[in-house]
Amino acid sequence: MTNNVLSLKYISEYKDEYLRELKSYLAKELDYCNHNSNGYSKLTIEYIKEILANLPEKNGEDVDNDYVCGYTKRDLKYNNFIEAYRLIKYQYSKYSNRYFSLVEGVYASIILEILKQKKTKVRNVLDCGCGPSRLAYELSIFYQDACFDLLDFSYINLFFANKILKQEGCFLIPSKSFGSDDIEHIEIATKSVDKLNSYIFNLDDLSVDTFDYKFDIITASHSVNLLSDPLKTVNIMVKMLNKGGILVIADLLGWKENRDMSRRVFYNREAFFEKISAISGVTVLHKESGGPYCEEVNAERYDLYTNHFIVLQREV
Ligand SMILES: C[S@@+](CC[C@H](N)C(=O)[O-])C[C@H]1O[C@@H](n2cnc3c(N)ncnc32)[C@H](O)[C@@H]1O
Repeated sequence: MTNNVLSLKYISEYKDEYLRELKSYLAKELDYCNHNSNGYSKLTIEYIKEILANLPEKNGEDVDNDYVCGYTKRDLKYNNFIEAYRLIKYQYSKYSNRYFSLVEGVYASIILEILKQKKTKVRNVLDCGCGPSRLAYELSIFYQDACFDLLDFSYINLFFANKILKQEGCFLIPSKSFGSDDIEHIEIATKSVDKLNSYIFNLDDLSVDTFDYKFDIITASHSVNLLSDPLKTVNIMVKMLNKGGILVIADLLGWKENRDMSRRVFYNREAFFEKISAISGVTVLHKESGGPYCEEVNAERYDLYTNHFIVLQREV
């Protein structure tokens, strides 16, 4: 495993099962693509081959560092090309040949608040549930000496996060044009971040000791509301901060309206702000609702979500 590709730092006891499930998904996807020749398949085959070429041959081989994390079937839902392409399309529209972005209100406002609050030297940044990691893409411009750690339980999302953040140039993703069978190719501008580590990790297993150092900035954008116990995990994130460190939690609460209430601790804007503000040892620096986060249903119709975010600072 070279440094440029995803360095596998993950799972120990569940690694075999995770790899087996991932390989089985990749084999099915490859089979589908081989039997359905179109713009989606052509590109996806290339990425599957690249992933397979970099997966350990035998489990446990070529693993840079062992990392312990749990694995459940839910994890694999996110190991999916369609989902990863969707996230890349929306998060990186601004940095693509589309020049058409409907989510800047979300990402730009989060970055702006971090920049306003964190003017001192930043050494370590953690993005939790990073997906293709638009936040690290942006923050790495301002904190050039910092080391970025990315956590996600989706190998495929981390693969693309690494493509975007570790390979200067550009790459393509397929996107279906609505109302036709045509597949459009979207070109994404990439960059090269010096210090970047990616970990296949289940955030439900996050603990204060997951890393043996603390962070100046931790971000969790649109991910904590997907966890088994979001508030517990946010409490742990707070403890992973250096004194004076900043934690940003952003979420689209409308996404998961039909999930069990037991998992919906942040069921609306008030609950989100109230429960996070009540965490001890932090000062609330900023709260904001708006965004919006907007996805196209078709050229005439859009789905709109409100983005809520809160910025906390660990007390000095
Ligand atoms: C909706 S995406 C958000 C991605 C990105 N942070 C953003 O702002 O757009 C949610 C991400 O959280 C990850 N995720 C969900 N549950 C997770 C868990 N339990 N552990 C680690 N990652 C998780 C998914 O794999 C996915 O990449």
